[in-house]
Amino acid sequence: MDANHTVGRRKPQQAIGTVLATRGISADLRTRAWYRTRFRGETVTDLSGFSAKHVLLGVTGGIAAYKACELARAMMRAGADVQVVMTPSATAFVGPMTFQALTGRPVRIELLDPSAEAGMGHIELARWADLVVIAPCTAHTLATLALGQADDLLTTLWLATRAQRCVAPAMNQQMWSDPSVTSHVERLIARGVHVLGPDSGQQACGDIGPGRLLEVTELMPRLAALLAQGPLSGRHLVITAGPTHEPIDPVRFLSNQASGKMGYALASAAAAFGARVTLVSGPTALSCPRGVTRIDVVTACEMDNACQTLLSGSQVDCFIGAAAVSDMRPATVAQEKLKKGKDDLSTLTLVENPDVIWGVSHHANRPSLVVGFAAETQALLAHAAEKRERKGLDWICANDVSDGQVFGQDTNCLHCLTAAGQVTLGPGTKSEIARQLLTNIATHFSIVKDTTCN
Ligand code: C5P
Repeated sequence: MDANHTVGRRKPQQAIGTVLATRGISADLRTRAWYRTRFRGETVTDLSGFSAKHVLLGVTGGIAAYKACELARAMMRAGADVQVVMTPSATAFVGPMTFQALTGRPVRIELLDPSAEAGMGHIELARWADLVVIAPCTAHTLATLALGQADDLLTTLWLATRAQRCVAPAMNQQMWSDPSVTSHVERLIARGVHVLGPDSGQQACGDIGPGRLLEVTELMPRLAALLAQGPLSGRHLVITAGPTHEPIDPVRFLSNQASGKMGYALASAAAAFGARVTLVSGPTALSCPRGVTRIDVVTACEMDNACQTLLSGSQVDCFIGAAAVSDMRPATVAQEKLKKGKDDLSTLTLVENPDVIWGVSHHANRPSLVVGFAAETQALLAHAAEKRERKGLDWICANDVSDGQVFGQDTNCLHCLTAAGQVTLGPGTKSEIARQLLTNIATHFSIVKDTTCN
């Protein structure tokens, strides 16, 4: 089915979602179908840039604030996580409860709100965002942004974020034409802010002219295109995750305690950074992160085959071996369940499994960056350094798994060893640490690219 597949235009949104879901149609295509139905058959190009992204939607006090509800909903539908931040005057136009219901997140309004700060503080929120979009953006907020003032939560976040920033202005046409507004817009554009719109036409006040908020159908593809330009866009990352199961008989297997959480967090962060991500996963209870292609495997040999096939068939820029691959497997797998008193249960003959990451780092089509993990219970750094050499890795992330730390937990601390030295990531949640490691990987690729250009 192609991306512009048409779905019965008049069917209610829920019914279409259900029909497509039962036919196994992807979330992205379901979103497009909903979007087309919602916006009367508009052609949708590519909204995949929203997948797994964190969008901070600023809403300021103008009549067009009601359109921000539709925008929040469309972005959620396209796979983004949306946090709405309203200026106090925006709440006169739309209630925060509306946005909370649409996004599943309480709306943030006040800068000095002790209860909100106890959760995700404003600086954390600024770091959380992949994109900050203010829609609608009033003349007053444009001026505040142009002057770099931080007198409410939204304008403070604007200054504190490293994410891409854009505004969709909406105001009366006379106000939009005022030279002071023009100079504020020019100043923002000069600082790399994306200014989307405004549209021209009939205004709420009765005037006709430029100043209308761009329609959601116009905003969505432009925002998706901005989001698709992550620091790893154009890169292909292959990540292994989870344990492997090595069968003994039809019901028993050898395995380990890995949950897959670290590898899945890495895959999710890599997709959020704009990379094409293939996750080769052993058996886990986790669902595939948004925007990630998952290949399910069970045994180490299957994981090895999947990785070798990927390297032979496509260009892979970076490989991260986060899987806890079983080093050995039973030499033979019993066809029937082994029975006490009938079979010999006292001996299990094992053979060594292929080393998946060794095979990757010695492949003819080797990725330019190969990153391994070393879970150790003692002599952490010494063992990790030895593994980095022996397996031919560029980087190795050592973590201490003694005393039940790490396996199955949501937190971790990594000591990343490279040829140049060592950097510690964390302690923190696995998703925070994944973002830190992916930031280092993105920096590595930007330096390599710069060097290649020179
Ligand atoms: O030797 P050890 O298992 O501690 O090495 C850990 C690193 O090697 C991890 O990156 C893991 O994914 C990888 N590995 C592998 N294949 C194996 C064993 C480990 O890819 N058979």
